Amino acid sequence: MLASRDTEPSLDAAGKEGGHVRVRTSRWVRVSAGVAVAVGVGLAGYLPAAPVASAQTDTVAAGGRLYRGKGDCQACHGWAGDGRKMNLQMPDGANLRESTLTREQLVFVIKCGLPGRQMPAYDRRAYVDDRCLGRTRADLDRMGLQLFDPPATLQNREVERLADFLMAKVIGQGPLNRQKCIDFWGEEVAVCRNEFPD
Ligand code: HEC
Repeated sequence: MLASRDTEPSLDAAGKEGGHVRVRTSRWVRVSAGVAVAVGVGLAGYLPAAPVASAQTDTVAAGGRLYRGKGDCQACHGWAGDGRKMNLQMPDGANLRESTLTREQLVFVIKCGLPGRQMPAYDRRAYVDDRCLGRTRADLDRMGLQLFDPPATLQNREVERLADFLMAKVIGQGPLNRQKCIDFWGEEVAVCRNEFPD
């Protein structure tokens, strides 16, 4: 995993979007599971102990924000990843909840897209250098495979976060129900009550 490579996880200590109590850790520290940690506003003082538990939760949350925001995956895949797209003008994205991709394959698909199938490539260098199966845009043109432009390109670190989010909340998780909906959002939001009334 990206544990020791990602040297600057920014913990949103306030736990809310745009809260921006940002703190830097020198590196992620693996600690045994089950260590409960209060991620409070006073966190800055004890960073060396910043636990994986909260760092992981934070990464998943950051991935969720990328899914809905910068990457705008939900336009085609739906907010729940089940293929009920948010933007009717967009192509029909796959049902990611039924996807059987591994994390590695997922990262590859996000970076390199699916040429000819309207899944955009989010890596800025995709099909520029040889990182996507050695193919270039000229190769795709020759093969008659059209490549969809992404709403924004994503850095490697962002793709990793998206993958963390998708593996934790979406890929292979099956259809949503009330409980999964609440877990997905982290709270009982209106959309869960509306879609899954008692
Ligand atoms: C412009 C529409 C669009 C956007 C935006 C989009 N996708 Fe897709 N995605 C698709 C389509 C279309 C497919 C392929 C459907 C098919 O042919 O099976 C696909 C397929 C995939 C697959 C392959 C699933 C499988 O099991 O084969 C993954 C994973 C995926 N998308 C993830 C993402 C992620 C993550 C994002 C955001 C970073 C994203 N997509 C943004 C349209 C989109």
